[in-house]
Amino acid sequence: MASICLRQKPHAVLVPFPSQGHINPLMQLAKVLHYKGFHITFVHTEYNYRRLLKSRGSNSLDGLPTFRFVTIPDGLPATDANTTQDIPLLCDSTSKHCLPHFRNLLKKLSSSPDSPPITCIICDGVMSFTLDAAQELGLPAVFFWTPSACGFMGYVQFHRLIEKGLTPFKDESYFTNGHLDTVIDWIPGMKDIRLKDLPTFLRTADPNDIMLNFLVAETERTKKASAVILNTFHDLEDEVVDALSTLLPPIYSIGPLNLQLKQIPADNELNSIESNLWIEEPECLEWLDSKAPNSVIYVNFGSIAITTREQLVEFAWGIANSNKTFLWVIRPDLVRGESSVIPAEFLEETKERSLLASWCPQEQVLSHPAIGGFLTHSGWNSTLESVCGGVPMICWSFCGEQPTNCRYSCKEWGIGLELGDDVKRDYVEGLVRKLTEGGEGKEMKKKALEWKKLAKEATTCPNGLSFLALDKLINQVLLSSR
Ligand code: UDX
Repeated sequence: MASICLRQKPHAVLVPFPSQGHINPLMQLAKVLHYKGFHITFVHTEYNYRRLLKSRGSNSLDGLPTFRFVTIPDGLPATDANTTQDIPLLCDSTSKHCLPHFRNLLKKLSSSPDSPPITCIICDGVMSFTLDAAQELGLPAVFFWTPSACGFMGYVQFHRLIEKGLTPFKDESYFTNGHLDTVIDWIPGMKDIRLKDLPTFLRTADPNDIMLNFLVAETERTKKASAVILNTFHDLEDEVVDALSTLLPPIYSIGPLNLQLKQIPADNELNSIESNLWIEEPECLEWLDSKAPNSVIYVNFGSIAITTREQLVEFAWGIANSNKTFLWVIRPDLVRGESSVIPAEFLEETKERSLLASWCPQEQVLSHPAIGGFLTHSGWNSTLESVCGGVPMICWSFCGEQPTNCRYSCKEWGIGLELGDDVKRDYVEGLVRKLTEGGEGKEMKKKALEWKKLAKEATTCPNGLSFLALDKLINQVLLSSR
């Protein structure tokens, strides 16, 4: 039952950064807020809206009368492509071009008879242009940083890394001369961290690097937000969240949001709203139903990571040589510029014990009892979904704060085995065996189940800290303009 019973609904406008790993947590929050009585306006870019329509073969996205989709342009040249956009170009473009379109949108919404007055704006932490518009209208502007707290702390420290001369690198030799092994012992709430464990966007020798400068600017603007939302929970990241709290506006740790969603009954119409940019293949779940508990290795590298042809082939033979049953999701744009790179011999050799797909219902896959381990790129949503499923991981990181997630999964939380940049089949095979056969693997599984229990308690128990933080966020911030 909705917890807000007011004559006029409060109205939240949500603005995700336009990529899958950012849309998903914002969508989860939008659904929970709608369930708690909010009218929702969810802002997609025109590019992603077209992709969503295409993947559904439809002319418009089904929302609800009180859950609407609207669009703004992202500022990049229009294209019919169906791939992840170039992230630095997208960051540069949204920060420079979106504000006037967003202002117009708010103006339209404000004069529309179909929507109640806007109560608050919740934007992705890297869509901070919305702050100006929120301030002009006197509305609370809440920044939702979608990475882990530890990854976010890495971004927040970029300006100090620059001041200390650790980035940008003095020259290209710094990529390989051991500089990345430098131990960073001065970040509050973090210990035993090396430069290479911090977000990859610091790895540049260019003082004008788009991502380095963009993230310094976005974390600085976060100081002006009304509040910050993190998709994490206290038991998992309390030290780093406490440290962030001394540097930023009030922080609300309300995750894992995919578990907050469980308070919505299965037959609620909200469950029909989707946000997948690729078409899901639900057959994966039926296939998993036929497998023994803990017997399947699941491989998926999220929505942004790309591999080289050579890496893909090493992954393939590493998994094949482990002799395990596996589900491998290979996104159509996973290997840049190439298709059909999977070796025919690999397909032939593993056909009895594998399923390949191009996109799957990942959260359901990770909570399926057949899944015994997850070979992941350590994206934050994937990591959290693995925690919620009680599934230990093999962590291969690609970009952004994924190395930080990998470091914490392996060293702090005891649920990951690290696979470095240099992907070699023997090593992949060894890690798969370690995860599934040895005592260390058993220990990690036990730890993963403990984290699963704590994540559930945080979000679903009446005194769970994430459950309470969500109520506080609503009452102290989101409704504060009414
Ligand atoms: C990125 C970063 O990796 C992440 O750390 C950051 O905070 C947000 O952006 P991405 O690389 O796509 O996202 O990875 P991840 O964070 O794991 O998000 C992928 C999402 O897509 C997950 O919610 C996952 O469940 C979903 N997904 C992925 C599917 O539903 N099906 C798939 O086949 C693959």
